[in-house]
Amino acid sequence: ASRERLLVVANRLPVSAVRRGVDSWHLEISVGGLVSALLGVKEFETRWIGWAGVNVPDEIGQRALIKALAEKRCIPVFLDEEIVHQYYNGYCNNILWPLFHYLGLPQEDRLATTRSFQSQFDAYKKANQMFAEVVKEHYVEGDVVWCHDYHLMFLPKCLKERNRKMKVGWFLHTPFPSSEIHRTLPSRSELLRSVLAADLVGFHTYDYARHFVSACTRILGLEGTPEGVEDQGRLTRVAAFPIGIDSDRFIRALELPQVQDHMKELKERFAGRKVMLGVDRLDMIKGIPQKILAFEKFLEENPNWRDKVVLLQIAVPTRTDVPEYQKLTSQVHEIVGRINGRFGTLTAVPIHHLDRSLDFHALCALYAVTDVALVTSLRDGMNLVSYEFVACQASKKGVLILSEFAGAAQSLGAGAILVNPWNVTEVASSIGYALNMPADEREKRHHHNFVHVTTHTSQEWAATFVSELNDTIVEAQLRT
Ligand code: UDP
Ligand code: G6P
Repeated sequence: ASRERLLVVANRLPVSAVRRGVDSWHLEISVGGLVSALLGVKEFETRWIGWAGVNVPDEIGQRALIKALAEKRCIPVFLDEEIVHQYYNGYCNNILWPLFHYLGLPQEDRLATTRSFQSQFDAYKKANQMFAEVVKEHYVEGDVVWCHDYHLMFLPKCLKERNRKMKVGWFLHTPFPSSEIHRTLPSRSELLRSVLAADLVGFHTYDYARHFVSACTRILGLEGTPEGVEDQGRLTRVAAFPIGIDSDRFIRALELPQVQDHMKELKERFAGRKVMLGVDRLDMIKGIPQKILAFEKFLEENPNWRDKVVLLQIAVPTRTDVPEYQKLTSQVHEIVGRINGRFGTLTAVPIHHLDRSLDFHALCALYAVTDVALVTSLRDGMNLVSYEFVACQASKKGVLILSEFAGAAQSLGAGAILVNPWNVTEVASSIGYALNMPADEREKRHHHNFVHVTTHTSQEWAATFVSELNDTIVEAQLRT
């Protein structure tokens, strides 16, 4: 039987393009949970539609890039610099992203943001129309069109207006905030209505789905049912589909000779010290300053641990044209510098902070040699780093310290040590607890999480979402 065709539409393609010449492109794997999870989905005949992360003003470059991406089954949407500025840097990452993570609008330029709101929202809608155009060009009747994330909330409506019969799903990879937060958005109703044009709307957790339904009932005055949201007899199905990872890929990677070698090197490098690990995009939702301050407090209170533990923080640069992200970078550097100055010696520093990404194998090796992983997100849709760490810990059985504000707290809560990242005292004492945890407790906790991570995979996530979407459409047809 031929596999079902799936059009995945997301702002970020799984590969980002770097120009090497007039008509030559280099493709790099993109970083982020959305891409990681979707790359693990294999049971469909998948095509990706999205932005390659680069401005390509000339036709020669565009044609060459279309060709290079085609080999990866990717189809680019070309966004010019002005659109990227207003839609991606502006509306998506300066407004929706902080708001959906309960961080409010950026402090210093609140009024400026308020002023530019309308033009940014117009650019957002325009960008979504551009995605819809590309979908239309490549759509074949019967395709499942799966739209992703806060960048494309306007897309379901654009697609359905063109073709009512198209099967359209939308999934949000971030939290959906309380309706009290969503209410503050000037474009609150328009966004909700466009999302509701989809047949199925999915979230990571039941709470996010509930927040969405109550935003629709309170702001739009629609009827919420256990199935979803109803508008004049038409139902939009709303449900939770917790994402996962391709756990086998990680487990297999640990067997590779180059990963084993890398692990050996790391073990030698940090012999005699416990390794604590943080892996995050350098984003304010990740609570990186909070994490580092908690580590400082731990060192302050536990002088005997000072030369016996090291914190490795991989902080992948992200959205570097957005001022808030630039500020965060210098803030983090300042704190790290201060603490290394305070507790470092001529031969060792307590924090290794890397402003870069690692390749997949290096990341696996690092996960595998870690004693304690620290995930301190202030809010996080799910957080796949915590899943990946667990998948790589089959032999070491290290401890996961996990923010209660990450979606993953609902699935890995029983095995992890849950913390409130704002409470530096609590995080510091959890670090001590984790470092001193006896082997039998570590084993029990790890086992719990390992079972979850290896049974709730990204493959299963995608299959469940798509089959629910197909069911929803059949049921709607039966009803009319
Ligand atoms: N990641 C990566 N290279 C790195 C660091 C991280 O590919 O150097 C990946 C990591 O493996 C994970 C993703 O980035 O799959 C981060 O996903 P998560 O859900 O934790 O957070 P997000 O970045 O989506 O907010
Ligand atoms: C999060 C978002 C994704 C996004 C990723 C990386 O995971 O949910 O939609 O792709 O961060 O961010 P970027 O802005 O580089 O795409």
